[in-house]
Amino acid sequence: MRGALGCGFGVLSVGGYSRLLEPRWVEINTIGINISGLPKRFEGMTIAHVSDIHHCKYVSREFVRRCVRKVNALCPDIIVLTGDYIYCSREFLFPVAEELSGLQAREGVFAVVGNHDNKDQTVHVLSKAGIRVLVNEHVALYRKNDYLFIAGVDDLWRGRVDLRRTLQGTDDKPKLLLAHNPDVIEMAKGADVDLVMAGHTHGGQVNFPFYGHQVAYGRSGVRYTAGLFYEGNTTMYVNRGIGVSWLPVRFLARPEITLFTLQGTKNRKCDEAEGLTSKNCPGDLASECYSRMKC
Ligand SMILES: [Fe+2]
Repeated sequence: MRGALGCGFGVLSVGGYSRLLEPRWVEINTIGINISGLPKRFEGMTIAHVSDIHHCKYVSREFVRRCVRKVNALCPDIIVLTGDYIYCSREFLFPVAEELSGLQAREGVFAVVGNHDNKDQTVHVLSKAGIRVLVNEHVALYRKNDYLFIAGVDDLWRGRVDLRRTLQGTDDKPKLLLAHNPDVIEMAKGADVDLVMAGHTHGGQVNFPFYGHQVAYGRSGVRYTAGLFYEGNTTMYVNRGIGVSWLPVRFLARPEITLFTLQGTKNRKCDEAEGLTSKNCPGDLASECYSRMKC
């Protein structure tokens, strides 16, 4: 009897936590990103990353407003939004855009669309809110004579990702790519992209200890569910998002706002090899990096 009561209480506690507490318990993650060849004037540039807001009856306008305030409090140089602004009904697009118009960044707010967004309508409404929506295109961000590229692709599921067109006209300066779906890394890693910022997965949204992610949204399954990934010379960060979809719950996947700080590096592989000596440095790294580490 006691066991059954305890079990029932446990289920109620977990249910209440995942429905009422965790979906509103926003975590702010601060992460340094090494970018090879980062121009000096961009050293220390900060980027706030917000994704998957999914404004709907379960993700209130007040909650979105609170998140906007949190982002502004970080005083970022730029803000990036990686899609899925609403859930189910388009009636939520205008209110969410109105809240997002309050985002403040010294050098601009950039966005891409997600698989829950109507592309034309979203581009129109967000643009009116002062947000630059990138659909298979890029912009150059200047600091005096130095520059880097901010690029954004269409959604992988609902649109057509055209990376060649997106990067056409760029040169060897750093390229930061916004993509809703992290599976875009499979294309970006061969296209001289330095950093991919993605969302879509909600960090699994509901995770059970010892069992893992319940929702694997990508073609790559749980491979790119959340956090940092390295593929070739490309770094990718997958943000857990702000809102919810399917079920109005989160468990062990808190909503997230990310603040990146860009830092220059000669070569990321060499950074990974930092601390290695000639004795314990793996063969390929030793040949490629060890000599550069001495430079
Ligand atoms: Fe989403």
